[in-house]
Amino acid sequence: MILLTGGSGQLSSLIAQRARAAALDIRIGSRRADETDESRRRVDFDDPHTLDFRGIDTLMMISAGYAEDDVVIRRHDAVIAAAIQSGVRHVVYTSLSGSGDHLAFALAHRWTEKRLKGSVLHWTILRNGLYAELIGALAAPVDGEIRAPFGTAPISPVAREDLADAAMEVLKAPAAHAGRTYELSGVKAWSVADLAEALGASYRPSSLEAARASLANAPLKPFQPPMLMSIYSSAAAGFLQTPSTDLPALLLAPPRETLAIAAAAAGASG
Ligand SMILES: NC(=O)c1ccc[n+]([C@@H]2O[C@H](COP(=O)([O-])OP(=O)(O)OC[C@H]3O[C@@H](n4cnc5c(N)ncnc54)[C@H](OP(=O)(O)O)[C@@H]3O)[C@@H](O)[C@H]2O)c1
Repeated sequence: MILLTGGSGQLSSLIAQRARAAALDIRIGSRRADETDESRRRVDFDDPHTLDFRGIDTLMMISAGYAEDDVVIRRHDAVIAAAIQSGVRHVVYTSLSGSGDHLAFALAHRWTEKRLKGSVLHWTILRNGLYAELIGALAAPVDGEIRAPFGTAPISPVAREDLADAAMEVLKAPAAHAGRTYELSGVKAWSVADLAEALGASYRPSSLEAARASLANAPLKPFQPPMLMSIYSSAAAGFLQTPSTDLPALLLAPPRETLAIAAAAAGASG
C-alpha cells in the first residue's frame, strides 16, 4: 500500500488523480482528513500522533517546505523516523533540483536527502525543478509590464503535471527506482524576457534592492522574502538553467510546453 502525504496540495492532488486512475493501492494523508472518506487519513508532520505508517509499503513524502529550515528539518526528520519505526520499505521524496542549490530553501531538502540516504529505508529522490506555474505567477505583468528581477538568463522550469507523471512512474514500481536520484527540470530553457514576449508585455526588471524593499511591505511571513529573493538572484545569475534533466527518461510522453504554462499562470495572476 502507498501513502501519499500533503493530500490537499496541488502536486499531491495531481499524483492522487493519476494513482486512482491507474488503480494503485493508495491512501491519502493530509492535515485535513475527511471522516467521510476512508481513503484519507490525517497526517500532519507537526503532530507525531498522526505519523503511524504501519501497513504502508511505500511512503510518497511531499516536502512541507513553507517554514524556517529548523521547522522543515524537524518535520521531515519526524516523518522519516516514523517510517522506519512503522516498517515502511520505501520512501519517495520530492526534493529540489541541483540547479536550485543557491535557493534559500535548498538546505532543508539536502538535509532530508542525506537523512534518507543514511537510513535503513529504500529511497528515491525526485529533485523537482521550479514549477513553470510558480515562475509565471511571480513574473505576472502589472499594467502590461513585468518588473520582477529575474534577469535575462535562461531558466528551466518544469510543469507540475509532468512532475506528477514522473512521480507516478516511480510509484508504479518503486523497487525499480530504489537508490535513484532524478533531476527533474524542464527540457526547454527560456528567459523571463521570452515570457514577456509571449504575453505581449514589456520586461523592465527592477533592481534586487527595489524588489526586496517592496517585499518588506507585502503581507508575508519573515522566512518568505529571503526565499523569493533567492529565486530572483539565482535566476539572474544563470543558476536556474539546468544542463541536463531525467524528465524525458521517466515520462511516457514528451514533457509539456513550459513557456505556455508559465504564460497562462502569469495571465491568471496578473
Ligand atoms: N518546485 C517548486 O517550484 C515548488 C514551489 C513551491 C513549493 N514546493 C514544495 O513542493 C511541495 C509541493 O508543492 P505544491 O505545489 O503541491 O504546494 P502546495 O499546493 O502549496 O501544497 C503545500 C503542501 O504542503 C503540505 N504540508 C504543509 N505543511 C504540512 C505539514 N505540517 N504536514 C504535512 N504536510 C504539510 C500540504 O499538505 P496538506 O495541506 O494536505 O496537509 C500540501 O501538500 C510544497 O509543499 C513545497 O515544499 C516546490
